Amino acid sequence: MNAQQDQLPLSGRRAVVTGASSGIGRATARALAAAGANVHLVARRKERLLELVEELGACASCSAADVRDAEAVSEIFDGQSYDLVVANAGLGKGVAPLHEGDTDDWADMIDTNVKGVLHTARAALPALRAAGHGDLVLLGSVAGRQVYPGGNVYNASKHAVRAIYEALRLDEFGSGIRFTTVDPGLVETEFSLVRLGDQDAADRVYDGMTPLTPEDVADAIRYAVTRPPHVNIGEIVLWPTEQASTRDVHRNGH
Ligand SMILES: NC(=O)c1ccc[n+]([C@@H]2O[C@H](COP(=O)([O-])OP(=O)(O)OC[C@H]3O[C@@H](n4cnc5c(N)ncnc54)[C@H](OP(=O)(O)O)[C@@H]3O)[C@@H](O)[C@H]2O)c1
Repeated sequence: MNAQQDQLPLSGRRAVVTGASSGIGRATARALAAAGANVHLVARRKERLLELVEELGACASCSAADVRDAEAVSEIFDGQSYDLVVANAGLGKGVAPLHEGDTDDWADMIDTNVKGVLHTARAALPALRAAGHGDLVLLGSVAGRQVYPGGNVYNASKHAVRAIYEALRLDEFGSGIRFTTVDPGLVETEFSLVRLGDQDAADRVYDGMTPLTPEDVADAIRYAVTRPPHVNIGEIVLWPTEQASTRDVHRNGH
């Protein structure tokens, strides 16, 4: 067999991607659909989801839902048999030092990045357990491995994602389900606009360097979920070549 080929085809698989209206989630939905999966898209902005459903055609469907709402997430999975779930929905809000932090921003990050992932995993697990196989991919971040100034609550939320990944591996040991955490460095998406609230400030995050694209991250996810069933790619850390740590970015050759 050609080592470059996917060894576990995605045709016939039923995927859910949260945060599919933008960035990494949208690119992942496209990559999974292109590889043959049926994809159910989840995010709050329904218009965006409907546009992507139209683009992807018969292999796609969508639910407008907020992952902070446990009941709404549970309804998406109710009576379904999804066997590939990408818990990607997430955000950063603000870069203030802790003592100046906005507690509404904190709630947004913790409720989306931590509780949203928990809601998604909890709702997805019964069908995965019943099937005895399947993939649950979590979007962590290098921010869940290294903290940086002003990162405080976002860092804490992504460290929590890493803990949830490790907990799932232990709790579901023997179930046949594979768990993966995908932890990228700088990826150019709407993330920085959402975090900073200003397009110029968002553009400066990627100024003078080449960030990862959402397609780079989607490709890593596609790779993980197409390995043979006995192989679980557990942790993927992707850095832009010009980023050495969460604090060291090579810009304009410096
Ligand atoms: N960009 C980076 O540099 C980077 C690096 C490492 C990790 N990440 C992680 O990658 C993931 C995707 O981010 P991205 O970079 O692709 O950013 P993005 O372009 O802003 O996309 C974020 C997605 O999450 C969805 N979302 C946010 N809050 C939600 C909620 N409460 N309920 C449902 N969906 C929600 C958004 O959709 P709606 O607004 O339509 O709901 C959107 O589809 C996040 O978990 C982020 O923390 C990003």
